[in-house]
Amino acid sequence: MKKLITFLVPLLFTCLVSASETGGLNSLRTDDLSIQAPAEAMKKVHESDSLLKRDFIQQPPMIPHDIRGYDINKNVNSCLRCHSWKNASKWGATRISVTHFYDRDGKQLADVAPGRYFCVQCHVPQADAKPLLENMFEPVDSLKKQQ
Ligand code: HEC
Ligand code: HEC
Repeated sequence: MKKLITFLVPLLFTCLVSASETGGLNSLRTDDLSIQAPAEAMKKVHESDSLLKRDFIQQPPMIPHDIRGYDINKNVNSCLRCHSWKNASKWGATRISVTHFYDRDGKQLADVAPGRYFCVQCHVPQADAKPLLENMFEPVDSLKKQQ
């Protein structure tokens, strides 16, 4: 027991000290957590006739149209109504990428891989929202000045 205490007391002390040293990071949260904050106003989706620019090569492209009411569940995937290889040309939509037919073991499937089924895990519409923090992010050279 004594041994345990001599081990635990310094451990507790170290935890307390490191908790007080947050390295100068401030939370972006400004609300008082004990008060139920009002819901934020819905942001207006930025719709565009042309595709939105990508900021880095591996970025899932942003969705340039509203997606309200487009269900994705076990019975239906509304995105594929327009974006599947079968339907895309009819709608003038981009076909899903070939990468979306590979499962996580790299095996090629005949249809969309389950890991790519829930499109909005990766693809989101763009809203005209202010960045939470000002930043100096620049796209890589190969993507600068896209038309
Ligand atoms: C009614 C047809 C339709 C549906 C349904 C639809 N889209 Fe689209 N989508 C389009 C068209 C057409 C474009 C091409 C740009 C444009 O005209 O808005 C597009 C563009 C996109 C792009 C940009 C592709 C690129 O290369 O930059 C993404 C990503 C996308 N849609 C994702 C989705 C997702 C995710 C859903 C489901 C939540 C969805 N779309 C549902 C028609 C559709
Ligand atoms: C796990 C993340 C992920 C999911 C889930 C996902 N995508 Fe993608 N998608 C990407 C990435 C990353 C790219 C860009 C690289 C590439 O082409 O693979 C992309 C590219 C695309 C493109 C552009 C293809 C092109 O030729 O430029 C379309 C359209 C698209 N996805 C639609 C969809 C739709 C529709 C779904 C749902 C059925 C979906 N994606 C699910 C990550 C994802």
